[in-house]
Amino acid sequence: MKMSKVTKIALIGTGFVGSSYAFAVLNQGLANELVLIDINKKKAEGDAMDLNHALPFGSPMRIWAGDYSDCKDADLVVITAGANQQPGETRLDLVDKNVKITKSIVSEVMKSGFDGLFLVSTNPVDILSYATWKFSGMPAHRVIGSGTILDTARLRYLLGKAYKVNPQNVHAYVIGEHGDTELPVWSHASIGIRPISDYLKEGNGPTQDELDQIFINVRNAAYHIIERKGATYYGIAMGLARLTRAILNDENSVLTVSTLLRGEYGLNDIYIGVPAVVNRSGVHEVVELKLQEQELEKLHHSAQVLTQVMKKV
Ligand code: LAC
Repeated sequence: MKMSKVTKIALIGTGFVGSSYAFAVLNQGLANELVLIDINKKKAEGDAMDLNHALPFGSPMRIWAGDYSDCKDADLVVITAGANQQPGETRLDLVDKNVKITKSIVSEVMKSGFDGLFLVSTNPVDILSYATWKFSGMPAHRVIGSGTILDTARLRYLLGKAYKVNPQNVHAYVIGEHGDTELPVWSHASIGIRPISDYLKEGNGPTQDELDQIFINVRNAAYHIIERKGATYYGIAMGLARLTRAILNDENSVLTVSTLLRGEYGLNDIYIGVPAVVNRSGVHEVVELKLQEQELEKLHHSAQVLTQVMKKV
């Protein structure tokens, strides 16, 4: 009888984001094995103990604090380690310290003989996803950044509130940098199967100004949360769990991730947030939306900002 393959996740970083993600993996029963790796070994051990004590309430899985050698046979290495934004800091301000940390992590992971997929969430995530691709030498489709998956969720949540529908029935995308130059794709936004443009034409629901304010709240959400609680972690952890499910269950789901563009949207040699089909192989294909001229200009501006930062790395 063919035994189903054991699925194994190696999590690098058990800070706020990493430990929230580990809890989501346990809660949703996303893998058979989860190894926690952190420079602070005691923290990883404490998290492993704490999570194991929850196992009687969840699905069976093996959770332990390990080291980089445990990455060898992992299906997925999830990188959350790094410095996070302090009040008043942008994500791009973190680039110098987090590129160094990412380089050291990727080097240790590759030494183990790892041959799975990378999932990167440390900020600035577009830059660090590109760096992980370069440092690892892995094929680009197997290095995925969380990109604008959380920004897209934030937009869907706020639009769901405005139109009084379940956010899971809101179809709208935020693309570009996971950061201050991201943009909403209003031209492809719909509530259920009704385009938002129809609501606007009828004067039904939020005005365009109110929609623009909703997007401003999306773009600034992390700043608002950080000034109140010091960091963000539940939203991004659930976004990483969603991506994990799409990969390990081979879903072919369309999610806005940071991936390498090779001519799509007129962009090359850059990791940036776009809708893509995600499955067991990683990014199966980029979904190229037909953007309005202004939207494409904003996406190219976002790419320019990222490219300028990349040059300094
Ligand atoms: C945020 C972090 C994950 O947007 O960048 O909350």
